[in-house]
Amino acid sequence: MEFRFIWVQTGGHYTPTRCKPRERVAILIPFRNRNNHLRILLNNLHPILYRQQLEYSIYVLKQADEKPFNRGKLFNIGYLEAKKDNHTCFVFHDVDLIPENDHILYGCVRSPMHLSRAVNTFNYKLPYKELLGGVAAWKTREFEQVNGWSNLFVNWGGEDDDLSYRTIANKLSIFRFRNSVARYTMLEHRRTPVNTARHRQLQDSYTRYKIDGLSSLVYESPRIQRYHLFTMVSINT
Ligand code: BGC
Repeated sequence: MEFRFIWVQTGGHYTPTRCKPRERVAILIPFRNRNNHLRILLNNLHPILYRQQLEYSIYVLKQADEKPFNRGKLFNIGYLEAKKDNHTCFVFHDVDLIPENDHILYGCVRSPMHLSRAVNTFNYKLPYKELLGGVAAWKTREFEQVNGWSNLFVNWGGEDDDLSYRTIANKLSIFRFRNSVARYTMLEHRRTPVNTARHRQLQDSYTRYKIDGLSSLVYESPRIQRYHLFTMVSINT
């Protein structure tokens, strides 16, 4: 038990005692071999979520195999596992993005809501208006309407653009907080292998979403371990 986070219950969970929150928020963090980043993110996120008086749980979605990293599939599996714990709002969160501002509300005020609009590595400017990468909050209804993430993108790049095209195909708007609020710092990391097939894959996003996503997800039951600051979901992709 870490003394510093005495309000956090096993599994990285908190329920406010003096109000009844509207949403039950699941923070989903895809992960492999980034222990330092995870430690820094948890140290920053728990106090912010507590100050926002959210009912929340943090899930670390660890890719347990050595296959190329599949962020979308980890998110889909994490989503279904967190849904079993009755969550209603799902925040898909990169491990290396640290919120700089307490006013970035993690509570699904709108859906889908792209939270990491202004990142230091992009000079705090949105690089293109379809960007949905980094950190984004979704409610069940819209997320299931777009059939979740694609399961087909591996390595770095493209899966978030594919999700964005799914929102367009479904006539959903992407909401964002103001630039001065939605500020994040990206932690330094070595360049990960790039998905060179992503431009080709993105060509049929508008139609493929119907058959590639939550509806086509096949997976073995992940191992679930509940630590103090998070629930670890170990996944073979
Ligand atoms: C990639 C996205 C990424 C974005 C910003 C795009 O080229 O396809 O996955 O989020 O760049 O880095």
